[in-house]
Amino acid sequence: MTATVATTKLRHEPIKPNIGARILNSKEELLSGELAAEIRELIESRGVLVFPQTHFTNAEQVAFTKTLGTFMPEGDGEDTYNISLDPAMGAHRDYLKGSLFWHADGTMNPLPIGYAVLTSKVLPTWGGNTEFCNTYAAYDALDDDMKARLEGLRVEHAAWRSLFYYDPEPAQEVLEGMMRIGTKNLPIVWTHRSGRKSLVLGCTADHVVGMDWVESARLLNGLRDFATSEPFHYAHEWSVGDTVMWDNSGTMHRAAPYDPACGRLLVRTKTGGEEPIQ
Ligand SMILES: [Fe+2]
Repeated sequence: MTATVATTKLRHEPIKPNIGARILNSKEELLSGELAAEIRELIESRGVLVFPQTHFTNAEQVAFTKTLGTFMPEGDGEDTYNISLDPAMGAHRDYLKGSLFWHADGTMNPLPIGYAVLTSKVLPTWGGNTEFCNTYAAYDALDDDMKARLEGLRVEHAAWRSLFYYDPEPAQEVLEGMMRIGTKNLPIVWTHRSGRKSLVLGCTADHVVGMDWVESARLLNGLRDFATSEPFHYAHEWSVGDTVMWDNSGTMHRAAPYDPACGRLLVRTKTGGEEPIQ
């Protein structure tokens, strides 16, 4: 008798030329862990993967995330994080206001997060798409003059900079609280161990070190505008039960505005980052 080894292959189709792929495998295949290596390889080029209608329970989402890398619990020790602006859903509302603007998760930490996984539980009444951009593809599309100009440039990032996006005239104690998170000096171009390069931008980016402040603002805004433009952009319109995963080291994301009281709920899990931004 000959033993047969069942091998499950990843089945997928692109969403847009520079970003996104839809995964067609069943939930059972995803949970088996057999697809993890192929998922990791695919997401590096696509930035975002959509798994339609998994209807993952929280426990299933945790199990799936654990197949992808080193599972990273939340700061409070929980495995999952409820993303909602509804006061009835939890206490993170002010912090989440910053999620309406382009960013990557954990930019201010020693290691940014690796992969993030979201599953939709409650839809918004209006708005509330999650938008992504591929910062590998955007870097690749820059012309050679711009790539040469960016070489070696560093940017001072600060959490308090993002505060002014949603609270332009904060009380002083609110600003001081955000300032206690500290600042971080990061390259504008992240050269990954793979040799590929991505752009490091987002709402914590304050200024390019050593550059005239008007030129700095022009450069940072221009790059953000380019990197988030149509060719590199995907907006996911949620259905309940959809799961979406992004590579946090090669993308930025934001939530489109929505009714804060509507109960919109996404559950997030994540893996730890595997290399510092350098
Ligand atoms: Fe985020």
